[in-house]
Amino acid sequence: MSNQEYFYVTTPIYYVNDVPHIGHAYTTVAADVLARWYRLKGYRVHFLTGMDEHGEKVAKTAAEKGMTPQEWCDHMAPHFQAMLELLDISNDDFIRTTEERHVRGVVTLLETLQEKDALYLRDYEGPYCVACETYLTGGELVDAEGGAGGNLCPIHKSPVDHLREHNWFFRLSNYRDRLLDHIKEHPEFIEPATRRNEVISFLEEGLNDISFSRSTITWGVPLPWDTDQVAYVWPDALANYMTAVGYGTNEERFHQDWPASLHLVGKDILRFHTIIWPAILMAADLPLPRQVFVHGWLLAAGEKMSKTRANKIAPSEIVDGFGVDCSRYYFLRDVSFGLDGSFSWEAMLQRYNADLANDIGNLASRVLNMVERYLDGLSPKEQGVDGDDGGEIDALQAALTSAVSVYGERFEALDFDDGLLALWGFFHAANRFVEDTTPWHLAKDKSPAAQARLREVLGAALEALRISAVLLSPVMPGAARRLWDKLGLEAAPDAQILEKAVIWGQFPAGTRVTKGDPLFPRKEI
Ligand code: MSP
Repeated sequence: MSNQEYFYVTTPIYYVNDVPHIGHAYTTVAADVLARWYRLKGYRVHFLTGMDEHGEKVAKTAAEKGMTPQEWCDHMAPHFQAMLELLDISNDDFIRTTEERHVRGVVTLLETLQEKDALYLRDYEGPYCVACETYLTGGELVDAEGGAGGNLCPIHKSPVDHLREHNWFFRLSNYRDRLLDHIKEHPEFIEPATRRNEVISFLEEGLNDISFSRSTITWGVPLPWDTDQVAYVWPDALANYMTAVGYGTNEERFHQDWPASLHLVGKDILRFHTIIWPAILMAADLPLPRQVFVHGWLLAAGEKMSKTRANKIAPSEIVDGFGVDCSRYYFLRDVSFGLDGSFSWEAMLQRYNADLANDIGNLASRVLNMVERYLDGLSPKEQGVDGDDGGEIDALQAALTSAVSVYGERFEALDFDDGLLALWGFFHAANRFVEDTTPWHLAKDKSPAAQARLREVLGAALEALRISAVLLSPVMPGAARRLWDKLGLEAAPDAQILEKAVIWGQFPAGTRVTKGDPLFPRKEI
């Protein structure tokens, strides 16, 4: 067990001021695909997501709804959990920052920072965006047209508050050089490179200390040594990545499961994760996460989806329209992970019909149909093992080998669209294989040689489908399972170990396969 490789992936924890939209679904699906990928590789995986429940933003929303903040959070939790279920998310844990395990961990972290003299009292005066839960500088504010010098948050384009408080400050400026050194020594700490460069430039300009407590709000974790103040929501929220694996409550587990392998975050929360978070860990003498991967936004009508802009699309809208598998596939295939991408119903329909109904759906239907018609629905024992074919089957196996290696390598670099492109290269090769080997002609020729070739060709095609189901399972777990069932196979595609599963020639002979309903029935507009 101890030699088993470990992968700990997190999503940001979501603000509960509003129900989830497809922007939240997007990060969560990406994390799920990675978790499922590494499980398929046989890693011990821990996949964490959850809710960010403290802070002014949540307290304000609760007050507007006439509830206490805790009542509001309890009311919202099922909406987020329903999103996870709806999207077939395989998280191992779901943390809420109002849980005792988290609050105890935050107290431990605050006490540690205080003991290490990382905090000090100071007056603060300046702008604060409640929607971001961020302190801003005057220079960052914009006007309604996005120009400098207004009173609006550059992200939300909504008016900022003016804060005047006596707060505990974190000595963030002390960590500038160590952060720069860390990024230089471990460039993979921030991906993609454009974001790394952005952080480096920001650090090179110098860092200011940052307020870590609030005296004018009460919805948060009180500072143990100054209970008139609560922790600023960001250090509280960031700590979730550690408190969920036992920080402050279960030392043994914490040492085993920390640090995280990967924090997935949107570009709006880049600095919190690549500057403030590592600086907190440095101050507390704790190991840093291995990587922060920063993705772009899913835009609706050209803008980031948000409550303030009322341009949100609910995950249930796209799942109702296209099913969970297509929704997951669309997010990863149609948008380059790391860049912004526009959500479009037309593009989704196009992907559904071309990539799913046609490329993989048709392939499955055709092959299963022919096995039903020509082989009484029973899988043959011949599958063209060991390159004894010298032609089309060898070419198909070669296409598989190359697809598997590119797919894995691209997924592990979080380049999902190129990974999927490689996998689809294999589906195209399999469709070509069926065209080139013309089983429908072989079926008409009753000579023993033609019949043997027919069995071999359909056996190879079934084998291609078996391996396809395994490879698809991280992205489209439901469709992979449905395909697996049609193939009459046991266990489940996501219960396989990748390295073994992709070895050609394992389709059990004499298995009853069934064409049944199409995997992805074509859709009209
Ligand atoms: N609560 C903080 C995160 C704390 S993590 C310690 C927060 N929450 S959020 O709900 O506003 O955003 C959570 C994540 O969703 C962020 O990574 C954000 O980038 C992502 N998205 C929110 N809207 C999005 C899109 N429209 N598109 C893609 N992702 C977006 O920030």
